[in-house]
Amino acid sequence: MRMLCVLDGDATPLSAVFAAGHASRSVDIPARSGDVGMSRLDSFIRRMQAQRDCLNWVATQLRDTPGPVLEVGLGNGRTYDHLRGLLPERDIFVFEREVRAHPDCIPGADRLFLGDVRDTIPQAARTLAHRAALIHSDLGTGDHVANAALGDWLGPALDALLAPGGYVVANQPLEVARWKRMPEPAGVPRDRYFIYRATGGGEA
Ligand SMILES: C[S@@+](CC[C@H](N)C(=O)[O-])C[C@H]1O[C@@H](n2cnc3c(N)ncnc32)[C@H](O)[C@@H]1O
Repeated sequence: MRMLCVLDGDATPLSAVFAAGHASRSVDIPARSGDVGMSRLDSFIRRMQAQRDCLNWVATQLRDTPGPVLEVGLGNGRTYDHLRGLLPERDIFVFEREVRAHPDCIPGADRLFLGDVRDTIPQAARTLAHRAALIHSDLGTGDHVANAALGDWLGPALDALLAPGGYVVANQPLEVARWKRMPEPAGVPRDRYFIYRATGGGEA
């Protein structure tokens, strides 16, 4: 079946999409490859569980890594709310092009980079370069092809903000030479969510 993976896209493992490449074209994806028999609701719930498990695990790893947390993609504020509960002592900076979050989950203006990340991440690098202990990137639109194309730019852009030894938790695979992919926490299936750790200091 020829389909461009749209809507929530959760029934298709990301690995199938990214393995297929991501030029600006549709890709051939079986409607439910991998998650055979799983409804979109099942798949959505599993992705949310994986997201939460990865964030919970990484929060336990940050003791020796000072620095703020970056939430890239506020959405309705669910993971922002979770992160501020997990890491109440950390500053959390948020990147979002259009704020439509729950009113209780909107950061102060001094913590919000409003606009497209292609503009705001380079802006943020002026003050946050190599400072972030944790970056959670969740820019997913459901269009995995567009997400993957953005990912080529996103990895190196986020790297400019990441502290030595800092972690990235992402909804999509990102490639940066100095990042090491970390194993998923127990119970999180491979390629449902992605954890990386910066192994070196990065470029100044
Ligand atoms: C999947 S939602 C994030 C969900 C959020 N983590 C939560 O738990 O509620 C993705 C968000 O990223 C934002 N976004 C997508 N592409 C963006 C871009 N290029 N620049 C800034 N924000 C972007 C969208 O507006 C959307 O709010």
